[in-house]
Parts: sequence; structure tokens; C-alpha cells
Amino acid sequence: MAEIVGQISTSHVPAIGGAIAKGLQQDPYWKPLFDAFPPVRSWLEAKRPDVAVMVYNDHGLNFFLDKLPTFAVGAAASYVSSDEGWGIPTIEPVEGDQDLSWAIIEGVIGDEFDVTMCQEMLIDHAVTVPLQLLWPGRSAPLKIVPVSINTVQHPLPSPARCLKFGQAIGRAIARWKQDARVVVISTGGLSHQLDGERAGFINPEFDALCLDSLVNDPARLTKFSVRDLVELSGTQGVEILNWIVGRGILGSHAKEVFRNYHIPISNTASAVQLLETA
Ligand code: DHB
Ligand code: FE
Repeated sequence: MAEIVGQISTSHVPAIGGAIAKGLQQDPYWKPLFDAFPPVRSWLEAKRPDVAVMVYNDHGLNFFLDKLPTFAVGAAASYVSSDEGWGIPTIEPVEGDQDLSWAIIEGVIGDEFDVTMCQEMLIDHAVTVPLQLLWPGRSAPLKIVPVSINTVQHPLPSPARCLKFGQAIGRAIARWKQDARVVVISTGGLSHQLDGERAGFINPEFDALCLDSLVNDPARLTKFSVRDLVELSGTQGVEILNWIVGRGILGSHAKEVFRNYHIPISNTASAVQLLETA
């Protein structure tokens, strides 16, 4: 039987990829961010997951505004990374777990989530930067299943829909016959706005509410509309939807093992949260 060992959620700011490439981990600006990761890496060393379900949003690399699925699941044998314009390094191709991909796709479609299935899928900084933070200087020692959520082109899926989608993925993983240890990695957020009059907007109070709710009461976040999220956490802060999907996968009861919150990194309130099933 497959076992979900926990959920790691982290921001995916592209400039982190640049800082890694330049070796700036000890630089005063970057140190508070990089110092958050050793505890999470120790946890990974102890849990040794076989596969990561990575919930993220594509930023115009694999999908563009002309064709943009609300929910898409990768089913490739390998995922090639590319730079959608930030000028940050790519990483080696990441191996896919096709067996789990199809178990998830069949499961969620059976559960009335009609996802787009992608037998080829490019991955952007929202996958590569978290992998580099969690396994620095090496390839990630596990396979992945990328799950892409539309947080880019409105109308976006609601927080309520995202929680239910995650729960459907969780049920599919529970039915998967492999003896594998699965970690959920959700990326993006927290509050940030890259464009318009409110560029640079960050909301620590709302971020704290999100982090707290994700531990004990994710349903609380389903009371917000996407419009509320834009207002409270910024036009790109809606990436919290990826964390909500991930939390749905984890299951009903969770405990927090570790949390870090640091502002700002680039234009973003950067956060890392590690949850285990309770
Ligand atoms: C930034 C944050 C993001 O989530 C992203 O996808 C791109 C840029 C930033 O703060 O610079
Ligand atoms: Fe982003």
C-alpha cells in the first residue's frame, strides 16, 4: 500500500534559482531563506520518500494563455526543465512515476475531476527551485508526478474546488497498489503581487491565517473566493491554491512539524511549511 508521509509547501521565487547559481546562500539577504531548509532536509533524509506529487502552477512555459487547463496531471517518463524568461539555470531531467500518474488520472476522473493528461510536460521554476532547495547540488532522489493548477488566467478554480481536487488525488493515492512512500510538495505563494499599482504588496496577517488554517482547518480557506484571495494576498498570492490542493491530498488530520516565514524574498512573502498526517 502507498503511504503519504507528509506535505512540504514552499515558495518558488525564480530569484532563488539565481542565488543558488551564484552561491549566495550565506549572503545576508538570502541566508534567512536558505537557513529554513536544513530541518526539512533532515526530515526527508529520515522519511526517504520514493515519489513526490508536486502541486504547482505553470508560468507560461508548458501552457500559455491560448490553452490553459484548470487542472493538469503529468504522465511522462521524464520531465525536462526550461527557463520561461527569468534567466535562471535549468536542472537535469527529472524522472516521472508513470504508474502513479495514471493511478491519479484514473482516480480523479472517476471522481469527476476531468483533468488534462500530459504525456509530455515541460517544468518551470515552480518545480525546479523547490527541488534545488530540498536536494541542493544533486538530482532529487525520487520520481515525481507534476500536478499543475491554473493560478494564471481567470477564472481560476475556487479554494473549495482545490481542496476537493486534492482530496480526490489523496483517495487515488490511497488506492494505488504500490508499496511506495509519497511526499506532497506544493509550491508558490505566499502573498505577492508582481504587477500593477499594488506591485510589492505583502500581507503577513493573511499569510499567518493561511499557515494556521492549513494545519488544523483547511476548510476555513474555502470560505474565501478567488477575488478575496487576490485582494488579501495579491494577484500572484493566489498560488496558495497549490498549497490548498496539497493539503487536500494529505488528508483530514495534520500536525505541523516545521514552519518558516520570511519577508521579503524578491516581491514575495516566502514560507516553508512541513506537515505530517496526524
Ligand atoms: C516571483 C514570485 C513568483 O511566485 C514567481 O512565479 C515569479 C516571481 C517574485 O517574487 O519575484
Ligand atoms: Fe509563481
